[in-house]
Amino acid sequence: MREALALAREMLGLTSPNPAVGCLIVRDGRVVGRGATARGGRPHAETQALAEAGEHARGATAIVSFEPCAHQGQTPPCARALIEAGIARVVIGCTDPYPAVRGRGIAMLRRAGIETVVGVLEQDCRRLNEGFIMRVTRGRPFALLKLAMTLDGRIAAANGDSHWVSSPASRRLVHQWRRECDAVIVGAGTVIADNPRLTCRLPGGRDPLRVVVDSRLRCPPEQRVFRQRSAAPTLLATAAEHVRRAQRRYGERTTIVGLPRSSRGLDLKRLMRELARRGVCRVMFEGGAHLAASALAAGIIDRVAFFLAPKILGSGMPAVDGLSAATMRRALPVAATTAQAVGDDWLIQGDIVTDRRRSAFAGDRSVSASA
Ligand SMILES: NC(=O)c1ccc[n+]([C@@H]2O[C@H](COP(=O)([O-])OP(=O)(O)OC[C@H]3O[C@@H](n4cnc5c(N)ncnc54)[C@H](OP(=O)(O)O)[C@@H]3O)[C@@H](O)[C@H]2O)c1
Repeated sequence: MREALALAREMLGLTSPNPAVGCLIVRDGRVVGRGATARGGRPHAETQALAEAGEHARGATAIVSFEPCAHQGQTPPCARALIEAGIARVVIGCTDPYPAVRGRGIAMLRRAGIETVVGVLEQDCRRLNEGFIMRVTRGRPFALLKLAMTLDGRIAAANGDSHWVSSPASRRLVHQWRRECDAVIVGAGTVIADNPRLTCRLPGGRDPLRVVVDSRLRCPPEQRVFRQRSAAPTLLATAAEHVRRAQRRYGERTTIVGLPRSSRGLDLKRLMRELARRGVCRVMFEGGAHLAASALAAGIIDRVAFFLAPKILGSGMPAVDGLSAATMRRALPVAATTAQAVGDDWLIQGDIVTDRRRSAFAGDRSVSASA
């Protein structure tokens, strides 16, 4: 299963709106077929592994990181393909919550008399496709908030300079995350201050969709994010009344989406739903401070990844500006935290605790009207 997961991980960020899945066919202790979901989600991992295994699939074990599909899509269901290939045993990482599958793939295999084991490395398998699972079960992408800050929690100097807060090793890791995400999101303040490209500059990497949140069209159209050559488009989210003006201002290469406003700017929950509708499973918020606060307050951030660089500024922009939890009890709790050294920095990661946050913030309008 670890090897199946490794195959799937290679394709993360390339298979949306489908999950990234890995599959091995094992016969007499030898791997006779390997497959991973292809770019764009097809062919599926099982199809490719079975094709490689050929006749060796008869009587073999299939190890697959995600429940095989049970519905007729553009291709026949994978559960049926496994049955027809004569597979004797199937080992599955986790179930697929997609309504047309949701246990039906497992049931189909068992009805055909195939021994089917479910839940091997289940947490790892679920985590790999947390974006797909979030989109299917909650109608929004999985969201990571990434920020690089000094030891005293500043993401930019007082003059707006943030080049660079973190070490080259940390920045390389962020490029890998861009490759694994379907979209990255920044606020207008970041586009104006940093003129970022938001591309993936790793060899063989692929650019994510770039999303700029700018309710008043403050971003100059000359900024790189609107002008650069990239296989992936840039999407500008703005207030509904500015859509036509935005189309003229940013040109045809920028996709414009109109959104309603919330108390903090554009309605980020609506933006998440709109991105999910476009097949986006996994997004990374890349700042700045005000967008980070709004996204946290809106309850749409699932995980934080903060790089702590061994520097102290003493002034400048706080990492999260405007969340304003009035007491320690009201601070946003982060669970399952890990810390690891990356280059000169420490990377602290953790999951936002949703239920406790809801109750802790209940009635606190200074924190969020919508959390
Ligand atoms: N170290 C790091 O990791 C890092 C990462 C990114 C940025 N930065 C730094 O952060 C600074 C920029 O941060 P910032 O806080 O000024 O700007 P920001 O968070 O990038 O953008 C905020 C702006 O986005 C627009 N917006 C629209 N809807 C919003 C919503 N729902 N919530 C929040 N904003 C919304 C607003 O402008 P309108 O009202 O005009 O729409 C708002 O002023 C720069 O100095 C940059 O260098 C550092």
